[in-house]
Amino acid sequence: MGAAAPVFWRNILKAIKSLLFIALIATGGLIAFVYSGTYPMGADEPHTRVTHWLLETLREKSIARASRNVQLPELKDPELLLSGGADYNDMCAGCHLKPGVTESDFSLGLYPAPPDLTKPGSGDPQQHVRQQFWIIKHGIKASGMPAWGPTHDDGRIWAMVAFLQKLPDLTPQQYQIITARDEEDSGHH
Ligand code: HEC
Repeated sequence: MGAAAPVFWRNILKAIKSLLFIALIATGGLIAFVYSGTYPMGADEPHTRVTHWLLETLREKSIARASRNVQLPELKDPELLLSGGADYNDMCAGCHLKPGVTESDFSLGLYPAPPDLTKPGSGDPQQHVRQQFWIIKHGIKASGMPAWGPTHDDGRIWAMVAFLQKLPDLTPQQYQIITARDEEDSGHH
């Protein structure tokens, strides 16, 4: 019994040393890979599965956490729809499309591709709305999605969110009418 104890601890120490060695080699390999310049960075070549999973999970978890305390205002006001619609048409439709338009230079060329916002979203609707507000306000790093918060107040962003809830139901004609700016509303205040 008494003689077994030191052997036991020596084996534990050996195992720890081996693990540290493996970790060192793995870190060295990763750094060498980054500096080698062989990872394809062009937007026309998809990520490898591992990179895709890593970035996708990082983004999903981060946005879910950051947006969980966003307070939902009343979004049914028709005024909101009109101002949000006009803003969407000016600032977003080029990337996120509109009824009757299924692709654009941006929707085809950006990677990650901007989702088609004329299609209904999935998952818990309230959570979805919170996340939409957060994403529009803060944007998404290393993607084409800009942060609109620095240049637009929360009210204006909520108006676009309100419009987004109606967008999947609109025909091209309805879209045209709702997103048209009338004279006094043209030009940004
Ligand atoms: C230059 C192109 C571009 C413009 C302009 C743009 N977006 Fe985006 N948007 C993106 C891209 C790309 C993503 C996806 C990013 C990702 O998946 O990491 C995105 C994501 C989003 C999402 C999240 C959608 C989802 O289901 O995950 C919302 C909501 C959104 N944008 C709304 C808007 C609104 C509203 C505007 C206008 C104020 C706008 N975007 C303008 C490129 C753009």
